[in-house]
Amino acid sequence: MGNPDSGDAREELASVAASLRAYLEWQQDTGAMGIPRKPRSAKPAVEAPVADVGHAPRDASPSPPPSAPGRATAPLDVPVPVPVPAPLQARPVAIAPRPLPVIAAEASTCTKCALSTTRNSVVFSRGNPEAKLVFIGEAPGADEDEQGLPFVGRAGQLLDKMIGAMGLDPAKDVYVCNIIKCRPPGNRKPEPIEVETCIPYLHEQLAAIDPKAIVALGNTAMAALLNTKLGITKVRGQWKLYRGRVPVMPTYHPSYLLRPSAQQIEAKKQTWEDLQAVMKELGIPPKK
Ligand code: URA
Repeated sequence: MGNPDSGDAREELASVAASLRAYLEWQQDTGAMGIPRKPRSAKPAVEAPVADVGHAPRDASPSPPPSAPGRATAPLDVPVPVPVPAPLQARPVAIAPRPLPVIAAEASTCTKCALSTTRNSVVFSRGNPEAKLVFIGEAPGADEDEQGLPFVGRAGQLLDKMIGAMGLDPAKDVYVCNIIKCRPPGNRKPEPIEVETCIPYLHEQLAAIDPKAIVALGNTAMAALLNTKLGITKVRGQWKLYRGRVPVMPTYHPSYLLRPSAQQIEAKKQTWEDLQAVMKELGIPPKK
């Protein structure tokens, strides 16, 4: 049994604390969920055997005398740092993302930003959560806010045609959602703070779905997913990576394609090229 006051024990405690901290930071950075940001109780997360620091377990009977040599002197109801046994340190635990219905339920009552005071619905998603392909737009518009589903207005009808042209069924083969879940009044662009506040829901959604590819529709979706300030005209058509792992194809937003101007003819052709690249990436055969 080690003496907790010895230099060795202190060094061991410091190294355990450092590896736990690094592990938790990595989990948060990669979007893995389930890590409480604040401890839920005073109880340490991992109970260590008595031998590691000389503490008696809480249910040990009889209790050691407080003055016994090599024993902890802290009262048993006060949390004390407890080292993790060596085998646990070597084996990072995979933390499963929260299930989509749980994330959706939380989002449905969200009041984290002022959009919650003007919205009619929180617009979470439509389509198949098991899909390999996710389409991500900007934010709900008036129709979406009314119906509680993304892309159900004119832009949505065009999106469904694009998905159909890929030989896919919009209800069965893809998952559709937005960067932010509540409608900005007057369909204005979301403010950066609104994106920042809302995007954790999307990160959790994507962690739960684990898609093979993402199509980012328009500037806002592309910028938020890829952390870039470059415009969609520069980046569209080029594969990028979301969180260093999931291929993202940035392309034009269907609302842009609906604008009546000569540029849109070229933009539609380019969008179709981008979607064909997605089909190739996912092994979707060209539609006959
Ligand atoms: N535009 C979007 O970006 N999302 C929608 O849901 C509808 C229109």
